[in-house]
Amino acid sequence: MQIVLLGSGNVATVLGRLIANSEHSIIQVYGRNKDNARLLAEELGAIAGDPVAFTADAHSLDRSADLYLAAVSDSALMDIRNWLKLDHQLVAHTAGGVPQDVLSTVSANHGIFYPLQSLRKEMSRIPHIPFLVDGNTPENIATLFDLAKDLSPDVSVADDLTRLRLHVGAIIVNNFVNHLFTLAEDYCRQENIPFNTLKPLIREVAERIDHASPGALQTGPAIRNDEVTIRKHREMLREYPALFHLYGEITKSIQQYYQSMQGRA
Ligand SMILES: NC(=O)c1ccc[n+]([C@@H]2O[C@H](COP(=O)([O-])OP(=O)(O)OC[C@H]3O[C@@H](n4cnc5c(N)ncnc54)[C@H](OP(=O)(O)O)[C@@H]3O)[C@@H](O)[C@H]2O)c1
Repeated sequence: MQIVLLGSGNVATVLGRLIANSEHSIIQVYGRNKDNARLLAEELGAIAGDPVAFTADAHSLDRSADLYLAAVSDSALMDIRNWLKLDHQLVAHTAGGVPQDVLSTVSANHGIFYPLQSLRKEMSRIPHIPFLVDGNTPENIATLFDLAKDLSPDVSVADDLTRLRLHVGAIIVNNFVNHLFTLAEDYCRQENIPFNTLKPLIREVAERIDHASPGALQTGPAIRNDEVTIRKHREMLREYPALFHLYGEITKSIQQYYQSMQGRA
């Protein structure tokens, strides 16, 4: 496929790299910031071995592409729908929590191309990316499915509600857990203890859920109802209001979860 990439941020960059490494081509990068669009076009051109055009001018958009991939912030999709009008070409966006038909005024052929992964342009290695696709016709779903299959072995069709539900799950396992890592690292720094010593534990917790349900793997003072240790830990966290609060709430949540399990057994 010949693809125009709209956006030059994290998702545009990582998807652009994947596409430039595939049999498909990015023919143009559109970005509201011309320098960012140029930098991405240069990088993708170097990967593909063919120059990639770029523009910050909506009037200069290449109209010959098969697919317009809008990898812009959720709110920018609202802007794009005001100025982008295609004849019949397929347009798809990458936002998990935004309805499939948000770009229906842009083209009669529209869809979703959602990479369910945490993507940053600085990443040197592209991780495994499950793609969730959808479209307004079976043909558009098939086109986006086939493209995703060329980029990843892990592709499924997911309607708006399924994507939204998975998006909520993604926020919990990625953004919330990463925030706990952030607070823990700050705590270690301030207490002069090495955060690095906790890294094998972080990896082990993530890796073992390949083999068992996380609910069957819980350990620690909360599930043991070890109130003396819990009180001692919270005392240690008095100077860290966010961690103090979260420690209390998550401890309560773990205890309630396993008490209700026992009630059900
Ligand atoms: N990053 C992820 O892990 C991830 C994963 C899956 C899905 N997504 C979704 O993918 C989309 C892009 O996310 P991202 O992480 O790539 O965001 P990002 O790195 O912040 O990039 C956003 C892009 O949108 C452009 N933009 C912002 N406002 C605009 C406007 N009014 N008109 C035109 N372009 C505008 C920005 O241009 P400037 O460079 O000029 O600011 C930038 O190129 C979002 O819908 C997000 O929900 C993200």
